[in-house]
Amino acid sequence: MTFDDMPRIDLTHAPTALEALGGLRQHLGGPRIWVKRDDCTGLAGGGNKTRKLEYLIAEAEAEGADAVVTFGALQSNHARQTAAACARRGLACDLILLPAVARESDGYLLGGNLLLDRLLGARIHHLQPGQMPAAVLKTVLADHAAAGRRGYVIPAGGSNATGALGYVRAARELANQCRERGIYPAAVIHATSTGGTQAGLLAGFRIEGLSTRVIGINVYNDQSSALVAHIEALTAQILSRIAPGIAPAADGVEVVDGFLGGGYGVPTAAMVEAVSLIASKDGLLLDPVYSGKAMAGLLAMLDRGAFVEDDDLIFLHTGGTPVLSVYASAFP
Ligand SMILES: Cc1ncc(COP(=O)(O)O)c(C=O)c1O
Repeated sequence: MTFDDMPRIDLTHAPTALEALGGLRQHLGGPRIWVKRDDCTGLAGGGNKTRKLEYLIAEAEAEGADAVVTFGALQSNHARQTAAACARRGLACDLILLPAVARESDGYLLGGNLLLDRLLGARIHHLQPGQMPAAVLKTVLADHAAAGRRGYVIPAGGSNATGALGYVRAARELANQCRERGIYPAAVIHATSTGGTQAGLLAGFRIEGLSTRVIGINVYNDQSSALVAHIEALTAQILSRIAPGIAPAADGVEVVDGFLGGGYGVPTAAMVEAVSLIASKDGLLLDPVYSGKAMAGLLAMLDRGAFVEDDDLIFLHTGGTPVLSVYASAFP
């Protein structure tokens, strides 16, 4: 099956905008920086998961599923966008949520994405201490089966060879926008955690014949060698599925460490500085867990002269802003 024949439903307001970060450039000088606005994908607060869900929900429907089950942290953007996609398509949605971040304010435990999950009609299962996600999944699927419903399971972050097709499509969209404007980007920089966004972009740029670097800032854990191996395998899997004649670039996966701080979802001083700077210079909102740490990574690379003045760089804004207010206390 060719890429264009892969089953897909329309959920994204695409193409998302490609905007200049003019205020930041005026402030810092240096390379031209563009933002690809995947925070504005149009599905209940937006974000990168919308593009993955176009393929995942199409696959669920093709398999005759009437219920979708997925996993995430308590304030997962993936969970919120899955709940929205299910509401849009009339599917039941179960979210198995893990207390991955030690924040105990009311906002964290009730607001942000959790409030939206509830409004979007998802059934929420809070993982209790000592409980395994697989055990909860088994019970949820058994409940559905007993009621005559067929379940479809989406892995955390929607990062398998089906979900990542959303970022193959995004790579093509971005390549077209760049061609139209005569931009030859040296690199795309974005937050990486479960790896599907990065793998999809790498596969997509290979198919487009572009050598643009894809730099993932690790916001997930301190085991980037495992993440690199996962992204390499996923990129190869995507290419063998939709472009069997094309191999992944050797050593093409770049994952940058040093911006995670105390852990996933734990604020850092560099994130606070990056979110505040971009808001005040360009009127653009980032988020504390993903895009804020990714921007901190980009600012640090600019600071140490990792790019030249004449480079064009693309910052992929992957979303996450619905959690900004639950992190209010992290900002001065
Ligand atoms: C806002 C945001 N940015 C970036 C990511 C990372 O994307 P991926 O899981 O595809 O690496 C996620 C997902 O976890 C996210 O919610």
